[in-house]
Amino acid sequence: MPTDTLTVTDNRTGKTYEIKISDGTISATDLRQIRSSPEDFGLMSYDPAFLNTASCRSAITFIDGDKGILRYRGFPIEELAEHSSFLEIAYLLCEGELPTRSQLEVWERDISGHTYVHTSISKFLDGFRYNAHPMGMLLGAVSALSTFYPDAAHVLDRKQRYVQRIRLLAKMPTIAAFAFRHSRGLPYEYPRNDLGYVANFANMTFNIGGRFEPNRVLIRALEVLLILHADHEQNCSTAAMRAVGSSQVDPFSAISAAIAALYGPLHGGANEAVLHMLEEIGDIKNVPSFVEKLKKGHGKLMGFGHRVYKSYDPRARLIKRVADEVFEQTGLNPKLDIALELERIALQDEYFISRKLYPNVDFYTGLIYQAMGYPTEFFTVLFALGRTPGWLAQWEEMLLDPETKISRPRQVYIGHPTRPFVPIHRR
Ligand code: SDX
Repeated sequence: MPTDTLTVTDNRTGKTYEIKISDGTISATDLRQIRSSPEDFGLMSYDPAFLNTASCRSAITFIDGDKGILRYRGFPIEELAEHSSFLEIAYLLCEGELPTRSQLEVWERDISGHTYVHTSISKFLDGFRYNAHPMGMLLGAVSALSTFYPDAAHVLDRKQRYVQRIRLLAKMPTIAAFAFRHSRGLPYEYPRNDLGYVANFANMTFNIGGRFEPNRVLIRALEVLLILHADHEQNCSTAAMRAVGSSQVDPFSAISAAIAALYGPLHGGANEAVLHMLEEIGDIKNVPSFVEKLKKGHGKLMGFGHRVYKSYDPRARLIKRVADEVFEQTGLNPKLDIALELERIALQDEYFISRKLYPNVDFYTGLIYQAMGYPTEFFTVLFALGRTPGWLAQWEEMLLDPETKISRPRQVYIGHPTRPFVPIHRR
């Protein structure tokens, strides 16, 4: 009967080792017993970008990259996007189950009670230049929140974790909307807790002098986009949240590390980069030459490709449906034709097919956000609002995982051997 082990022979010594296989993995620390000599440190695994390394066990999100499957706590994303509210999804990710009606009422009440930020945070935001990137403002303001809630440092206290989770879910939209208002030189529009979570965010963003009637179709479309962004297992920003959180720092500081990671153009910043790319192409007739330039290695097709999905990102499929509903309300975004032609060509071109490059979550979202009235530099902030419950759920799962230790990788040293100091007059 085959056992779940790997038999490894070290040809340097002729020794053979039995290494346990569990959940389709071997434990990297089991390699340390393989030594070339008694003073040898022992083998390590080498995987700089975690291309083939599981960093944790998680029960939150399941992705099948080949089949294009995404599930939150076992529920298919297609059903959740169809039937749930964003706060329901936030509860599901954080608590592990869909809330009952009374649980949801308490959850919504708790969140609506924390939407205001300390007036000093407004002063902090006022200090940014008029053209400061809103992701930089979000990053700064959220990390500053840690100085207002010193109790957040008690990360091993369940009640404290709940309070901070509520504060972050409640205050991120307020800070995001204030960052938008600052960039427009507009007075802050304070939270209205009589509105739903997403309508309140839209009101704080777009209300000018009380004349803002939320468009129900656009509010629901934005809510679906937030749901589609809510979690995505061990992506770059979640890995940052877990690594920084493993030092047991407060969640405001840990989530600011996640926001920083998301800011990058290869991650959440891609939705903004897609719009800049479509603006650079300018006209549908320029698409073929742009694609040829890419194939010569000049730049990347932003919004395409994924570390896990080697088929169509299931979110991109759902987002295209949201796009149709939004454009019915707002009129077609002229850049949509360029995006559709880019997708058509890429999906039939061997260069992209051989690299398994398909549209990802970021390819169409920017076109929708732009049609909703958000400026390009604000798109990644919207991604961060969606991802907040996922970051918080992954952070708490990490803290409660008995296998968690402070994240501290090893290295392969390739620097100088020891050498004597050289005084400056002899350099
Ligand atoms: C998100 O991880 C997540 O789950 C992230 C995310 C989430 O919800 O959290 O899904 C959100 O970040 C989506 C990705 C958004 N980023 C972009 O759209 C930027 C463009 N995409 C690429 O930069 C890239 O596809 C990545 C970063 C997304 C994935 O990169 P990998 O997995 O490291 O793959 P790779 O760079 O090793 O690419 C393999 C090959 C390479 O070609 P060769 O060097 O082997 O010839 O494919 C090429 C790459 O050059 N390639 C692309 C490309 N993406 C990969 N070539 C052109 N255009 C692209 N977009």
